[in-house]
Amino acid sequence: MNKPLPPEAGLEALRALLRERSPLGPLKAMTKYTGYLFQIPMKGFQPYVVYGAEANRKALVTERDKVLWRNTDPVTDLLKHGVLIVDGDEHDRYRELMEPALHPSALSGYTPLILRHTENVSAQWQDGSIMDMLVESRKIALLIIMDALFSKDVTADIPRIWHPILKAIEYISPGAWILWRKIPRPGFRKPLQELDEYLFGIIEERRKKKEGKRDLLQHLIDAGLSDQIIRDQMLTMMIAGHDTSTALLAWVFALLGQHPDIHKKLVDEVDTLDKSPLLDQVIKEALRLYPPIHIGNRRVAENLTFAEGTVPAGERLFYSIYLTHHDEKIWENAESFCPARFAHGRKTPPFSYVPFGGGPRACIGAAFGQAEARIVLSHLLKSHTFEFTCHKIHAHMGATLEPRPGVNMKVTKRIENRE
Ligand code: HEM
Repeated sequence: MNKPLPPEAGLEALRALLRERSPLGPLKAMTKYTGYLFQIPMKGFQPYVVYGAEANRKALVTERDKVLWRNTDPVTDLLKHGVLIVDGDEHDRYRELMEPALHPSALSGYTPLILRHTENVSAQWQDGSIMDMLVESRKIALLIIMDALFSKDVTADIPRIWHPILKAIEYISPGAWILWRKIPRPGFRKPLQELDEYLFGIIEERRKKKEGKRDLLQHLIDAGLSDQIIRDQMLTMMIAGHDTSTALLAWVFALLGQHPDIHKKLVDEVDTLDKSPLLDQVIKEALRLYPPIHIGNRRVAENLTFAEGTVPAGERLFYSIYLTHHDEKIWENAESFCPARFAHGRKTPPFSYVPFGGGPRACIGAAFGQAEARIVLSHLLKSHTFEFTCHKIHAHMGATLEPRPGVNMKVTKRIENRE
């Protein structure tokens, strides 16, 4: 590990940056010269990066006690004691409280509201107009998560909370703070405060009700948690539960737009089958190529040894979902969009496909997110046609991996609406 990189590595990284317009390009280029463990050679920011099945297994399961989730960064500043941040017993307590609402057995109860919000958002589209499916996916995902977990229909509040939510996402996205942790960040205080006030308002409203809905919010209230801790969990679920689904839905639209043959086959299949196997494969393949959470961020608490070297205690460690999913040694033609690689009966080796992480801290909303994507996409493909405007798209590293500058598609209502 840490062999000096040859001069051509730097040049190749630069070319990849220009070509892919994202730091993911240089990262991928670097792996040609490094192994499954390397350090990012940036002045002031030198985290260790691991990827591949063996490293994932260690970081997520077998050696997970040697790493901490809590870090010093804006994610921790914003989500405070959110389940995604804290460690140990505190984490396990919150997770246990929230699991019933996201258990696979609870999911069918959400189908009507998922359909209703999808229908309501798409009903606003003017026939034949160009819509940005990144924005539309965010609206749909946000309405769904707020209704499913907090029984709050935020349709009328969207104009008020849209900007504060985008600011919260910008606040935790990579930026200059990576190099200069205390860099002044003007423009965030007010919107973040507005978001807090909104969430505290929902909690207060619910506390006043004698008979609350049996949803995730009620579980948190009944457990006797303080308003502040409930706010932390709500904000965590709101951001983690909609920004990821937004990216997934938008990437599916982008990939279908770029692959008209698969798009057509998929529309035929959702029209004729109750459960389209191709839709599942498309979702899985989108999650492989563009995993919304492309890295897991850890702080090493005890020296952690991988096949290719040791990461010392105190260092920042990323396990890269993106690099694992693009490793040519695991995936044939790793860069191509090929849903058939997930066809029934084909297996991927354990820990080589990790869009939802793994081990005891794998994504709590994995089943929800996939069911939601299936319902939203199959409904929209049945009700509308989507014509891609063939513009350039690159993977933007924000809080999630997003298709930028957006996914513009001409949307037309289908006459033979089969719903
Ligand atoms: C396509 C959708 C989604 C993707 C790709 C995704 C991805 C992930 C990944 C990779 C992790 C683990 C990160 C790590 O190891 O550092 C994670 C954790 C988490 N996700 Fe998701 N997620 C999705 C949807 C959701 C939804 C719908 C919710 C909430 C309803 C949610 C809530 C969470 C929470 C709370 C955690 C932290 C769990 C813990 O630390 O115990 N996610 N997600």
